[in-house]
Amino acid sequence: MAFAEKLIGWQRRHGRHDLPWQGTRDPYRIWLSEVMLQQTQVSTVIAYYRRFVARFPDVTALARATQDEVLQLWSGLGYYARGRNLHRAARRIAQHGFPRTAEKIAELPGVGRSTAAAIAVFAYGERAAILDGNVKRVLARAFGLADEKSLWAQAERLLPQREVERYTQALMDLGATVCTRRTPLCHACPLASSCRAKKERRIAELPVPRVRRALPEKQVTWLILRHRGAVLVERRPAPGIWGGLWCPPELAGKRPRGAKALAPIEHGFTHFRLRIRPLLCDVETRAARGRWLKLEEASAAALPAPVKTLLARLREAAH
Ligand code: ADE
Repeated sequence: MAFAEKLIGWQRRHGRHDLPWQGTRDPYRIWLSEVMLQQTQVSTVIAYYRRFVARFPDVTALARATQDEVLQLWSGLGYYARGRNLHRAARRIAQHGFPRTAEKIAELPGVGRSTAAAIAVFAYGERAAILDGNVKRVLARAFGLADEKSLWAQAERLLPQREVERYTQALMDLGATVCTRRTPLCHACPLASSCRAKKERRIAELPVPRVRRALPEKQVTWLILRHRGAVLVERRPAPGIWGGLWCPPELAGKRPRGAKALAPIEHGFTHFRLRIRPLLCDVETRAARGRWLKLEEASAAALPAPVKTLLARLREAAH
């Protein structure tokens, strides 16, 4: 049986069929889900996706929102450039309509070749090849391939004439549930009988692991100015980590007198680890700059995850 046929048959019986973005041809919803799924796993995305479509049921609603509203709903999903790009793209789509081909979809901010292909497949049934991290692993193992160029070429070659939607979903599902990075479930794999990596006992070597260097650690001291149950936050400049989100000011000079060190918070980014040292300072008056955020409002604001953690701790301690 051909590669695509095996996958399609497997997806019908063992694939995922109830994800909230399945069963629609609405390019807006499909685009939204694919962008959320770029760096985040399905189990996390589901709740965010539901909240997003409830608040912004179509692209016009999203285009009309402020960036702050969008980032507020995005808060906790991470990689905020995705949220900012999503909003920019929504404004473009609201004006010009949703692009009709993978090639045109790839011109939207925040949408790369593989994401564009996935959207075109699920929205329009276009025969377009995807190659995200999971699919790379499946193809690298099935065919013993290592480099990006041959993986893309193979992904294009394998595309079936029919049922490209189910085939694409199959590749994603197989990579996420069977052909996992560590200890893949080869006994449950429809490709096992022809899998090159399995035959040559090279499963652990394929795909070729990227060299992981120890991430550098950066440190920052945050000044938590508190006045009557509210703390001062400032909007971070974009681009840059957390651009558009609200954070406590960074301490540049000397530690103020009477400041109390709180437990540090560690946060991992792709390229470094951040160690945050918060200093709590109760103040008598409110400075004019920035925004005084009530601790009760913290969970609904556009704040990065560590700020939410920190403010939740302060709130707990006050009770
Ligand atoms: N990962 C990326 N896109 C996906 C999708 N549509 N369904 C499940 N996992 C995915």
